[in-house]
Amino acid sequence: MTTKQTLDLLRAHESRNVLFLEPDGSWPIVWERARGVHVWDAEGRKYLDLTAAFGVAAAGHANPCVVRAGQRQMATLLHAMGDVHPHALKARLARELSRITFERWGRARAKGKRQTAKVAAATGKVIFCNSGFEAVEAALKTAVLATGRRGVIAFEGAYHGLGYGALNATHREHFRGPFRSQLGEFGHFVRFPGERSALKEVAQNITKLFRRHKTGAILVEPIQARGGCNILPTGFLPLLRKLCDRHGALLILDEIYTGFGRTGKWFACEHSGVVPDLICLGKALTGGFPLSACVGRADVMDAAWPPSSGEAIHTSTFLGHPVGCAMALAQMEEIKRLKLCARSARLGKVLLAKLRSIQNSKLKTQNSARALGLMAGLELRRADGSPASAETMHVIKAMLHRGFILLPEGAHGNVISFTPPLTITEAQLRATVKALAEVLATD
Ligand SMILES: Cc1ncc(COP(=O)(O)O)c(C=O)c1O
Repeated sequence: MTTKQTLDLLRAHESRNVLFLEPDGSWPIVWERARGVHVWDAEGRKYLDLTAAFGVAAAGHANPCVVRAGQRQMATLLHAMGDVHPHALKARLARELSRITFERWGRARAKGKRQTAKVAAATGKVIFCNSGFEAVEAALKTAVLATGRRGVIAFEGAYHGLGYGALNATHREHFRGPFRSQLGEFGHFVRFPGERSALKEVAQNITKLFRRHKTGAILVEPIQARGGCNILPTGFLPLLRKLCDRHGALLILDEIYTGFGRTGKWFACEHSGVVPDLICLGKALTGGFPLSACVGRADVMDAAWPPSSGEAIHTSTFLGHPVGCAMALAQMEEIKRLKLCARSARLGKVLLAKLRSIQNSKLKTQNSARALGLMAGLELRRADGSPASAETMHVIKAMLHRGFILLPEGAHGNVISFTPPLTITEAQLRATVKALAEVLATD
């Protein structure tokens, strides 16, 4: 099918509002196939993908080992019975997720002798889900069961997904407004501290909220990805850990975007050494299958969830899908084998330096760059300081037509985000920034 035929069919038969279609045909392209860091469209044009398709293709699109694992599993057992008759891969993946999170963190901190016995000896327990938002909702359910307290403290600019549970903690009015009348409204928002100097005030506000609402959890992204690559200032996660401990609440980290090497470590919380009570994972977990997970410290999970009496109180038809589990195990092996965490850390520094070096008197916008590993953002503002939203979209479209796939992020869509496959090369990153600098100066 041609691009036009596909878009015409979608216009006719997919609900409005899902796809943004530019009347002049300049957006979107239709993806035909993808491999490694490249995508080909329906017209056979080749693109360099700087998004990893929302961060999913961390080990490259259609990584051969991941594809083989999925194909083998499809031919063996395509579907099992989530909470009734399980399959072995779900058990193996739960074990691996425990190892890569709480067990590894316990060992690392035991070396530093800075942790409680609980953390040092911890293992993890998992609830498998399908989409990222469901992992967040599983964590929110865990928090209310474990603490007996309603509510969650979240941050302005946060994005935790759009299901009716997660939406209570997703901040942007664009997503919440139309459904507000049907929301539980159990989220309390505090300002995202842009810099260290804001920490004191934010801590005071959180303390006030804990006193007023007896809230059971704090939910936070170590980097607000969809919020525009907003990086938590140093010291903030340790502060949240302290506040949760003081007020008997759980610390939930949403690492759905930042997990699996994206920021230069397996998980972004490792930059600060903070161990959460629960961590939400998705996206890059499988490299391309809708499987997500809420992983909690085993004692927290056991305090929350009673043994099953025959009917699980939280489950779903596709829970722990065998193909997703097979792919996730292969994806984690690939991230290790290809040393993608270290690669992400190294290339992230190169990317940030290159983005910061875009200086040209012809630039029409004032640009500022930030990054941690291969999660980077270039924010565009006009001379008067207002967000350069239209200009950002213009640049992204111009880049698309030069063969580079990028996305705008942030509440005003004025941050160009970079979350490429972690397999990208330095030369490809340099070529991207070179093209971007030209577009910023000329378009
Ligand atoms: C940090 C974070 N949490 C949750 C989600 C929701 O995941 P999903 O779209 O798979 O439901 C996203 C999606 O972008 C995300 O970035």
